[in-house]
Amino acid sequence: MLATEVDRGSVEKMVRSFYEMLIKDDLVGPFFIKALGDDLKNDKWYEHFHTLDKFWLMMMTGEKGYMGDPFLPHVFIGKLTEETFERWLELFNKHVHEHFIPEIADKFYRKSEILAKQFMENLEIGEEFEDED
Ligand code: HEM
Repeated sequence: MLATEVDRGSVEKMVRSFYEMLIKDDLVGPFFIKALGDDLKNDKWYEHFHTLDKFWLMMMTGEKGYMGDPFLPHVFIGKLTEETFERWLELFNKHVHEHFIPEIADKFYRKSEILAKQFMENLEIGEEFEDED
């Protein structure tokens, strides 16, 4: 059954199953495995899941708790490309629609799309940067 509310329970469920799926993706998965390992039960993943729970609760409900900088880790994890972000977004969109009613899933996706665009701009990824060194 699709979740009709954004609360800690529904976010935790969505976040864990998203990364379970994401690490199997040939393009996006290796970035996570390199940074956090392939065992979703290890300490790094535990930490990551908690960060992401707080992050999405803040993004979707305004609940305070996430104190980090969502962009910063992406500077250090290897060479991200437009294709990598597009794949991430495609998988995230599909995944949130499998967990939440369309109205909520669309809101998750819109938020992620805005951030992905900002990340790409900050990393100077995309068409406008293609001709530069
Ligand atoms: C190209 C696709 C992406 C890849 C490969 C990627 C990869 C990663 C990795 C490996 C980390 C963990 C770094 C570490 O703890 O050492 C991370 C953290 C994070 N990512 Fe991404 N990411 C991607 C896109 C996104 C997007 C689009 C969002 C937002 C919607 C996002 C939100 C976050 C957040 C909130 C964190 C935690 C930041 C913190 O530690 O406070 N990521 N990402």
